[in-house]
Amino acid sequence: MDVLIIGSGGREYSIGLALTRDENVEKIYFAPGNGATDALGENVALSDFSALADFVVSRGINLTIVGPEGPLVEGVVDVFEARGLNIFGPTAGAAQLEGSKIFMKNFLARHGVPTAKYVETDSLEVAYSFINSLEVPIVVKADGLCGGKGVIIAQSHDEAKKAAGEMLSGNAFGKAGTSIVIEEFLDGYELSVFAVCDGKDYVVLPAAQDHKRLLNNDEGPNTGGMGAYAPTPLVNDAIYAKLDERVIKPTLKGMQEEGNPFKGVLFIGVMVVKGEPIILEYNVRFGDPECEELMPLLKSPASELFYKAATGDLKNASITFHDKYAVGVVMASKGYPYKNSPPAEIIVDEIYHEDLKHNAHIAYAGVTRGEDGKLYATGGRVLVCVGVGESIKEAQKRAYMLVGQVHFVGKQCRTDIAYQAL
Ligand code: AMP
Ligand code: GLY
Repeated sequence: MDVLIIGSGGREYSIGLALTRDENVEKIYFAPGNGATDALGENVALSDFSALADFVVSRGINLTIVGPEGPLVEGVVDVFEARGLNIFGPTAGAAQLEGSKIFMKNFLARHGVPTAKYVETDSLEVAYSFINSLEVPIVVKADGLCGGKGVIIAQSHDEAKKAAGEMLSGNAFGKAGTSIVIEEFLDGYELSVFAVCDGKDYVVLPAAQDHKRLLNNDEGPNTGGMGAYAPTPLVNDAIYAKLDERVIKPTLKGMQEEGNPFKGVLFIGVMVVKGEPIILEYNVRFGDPECEELMPLLKSPASELFYKAATGDLKNASITFHDKYAVGVVMASKGYPYKNSPPAEIIVDEIYHEDLKHNAHIAYAGVTRGEDGKLYATGGRVLVCVGVGESIKEAQKRAYMLVGQVHFVGKQCRTDIAYQAL
């Protein structure tokens, strides 16, 4: 089959890479892709949903996979489905689980899924009075999509009130912040759990742990993610069982009952508090960089997972994973996450080490191919070095050996990815 992947990051590169290893897949297109995806397939400069659907029809593409949340929340799946095209991802209605924190929190409350105690409001008065009733720290969240920046963990009541005020006035995040959620702080450890869903049935992928802070020891500012590993030993069968019964099943059933059957990736942000999984948030797509570690762990063909989920046929799929570990280290540009950096040529040393050649690879993200044919770092998160191994330690060692082979001016990365597991 031929496949179109919508998106341009390391996540989409890694899905493409998994599909190139799949003998059921002939040709891969990326819209728009990045400077390195053109080595896996063909980049297509289209973003309008109808134009993309026309392209899929004209090329006879069998499946479209949507990487990022933006086009999902804006309804790309609705446009494709209205034209009878196979597409992996939720409709705009179902994507509200990520697109609106208020929708998500109220949905969880309606269906009894465990989550932090909260209020949602557009009134400063209500916000202040709930803030006064909580102990610090206090969490204040903008309702809409803010590129991962819409959550403030306030260390005092005054700071929480100030954050609420700035959001509600529209000064902080524009319209995305004029409704807010205020919630209690949960103290535990975080997991990213991914369930690939077809509306009714689902497959749970190995749980991952992301490293959101810029610097070692989880210090510095929040980022999109500086590295991740999977599976994490911080999750056990008891937690998986609770997630199945208390979270994933009621969510799929509730979404179906409410007329928004959920198809695509349900990305469950979990805080484990005293052994109990409590839901922080849902996203409706793979995490980035978590996807870059999960794709190499997939043993069964990637097309089977995505196609059967897109066509409502997961119950007839047999999805298997390697009994291995993957660690991904993000290499970012100098100014990340504060400002753009000038383009820098990327040089990857030739790899002679057999072990590394077979067990490590790069997932390219913020890169552009120059007219000279060379690859340049042009984004914040430039690439992810992924190592796979029989243990987390081995996977980590390989990922960092690969990091040592990659050069560009201003490169920065954490040197402690997966430390929580070691
Ligand atoms: P969210 O976008 O809702 O996942 O929030 C971003 C990050 O803020 C999460 O990954 C957590 O690290 C943190 N966070 C969000 N809500 C809470 C909460 N109620 N308690 C503690 N930390 C939180
Ligand atoms: N790595 C977290 C995210 O993609 O939201």
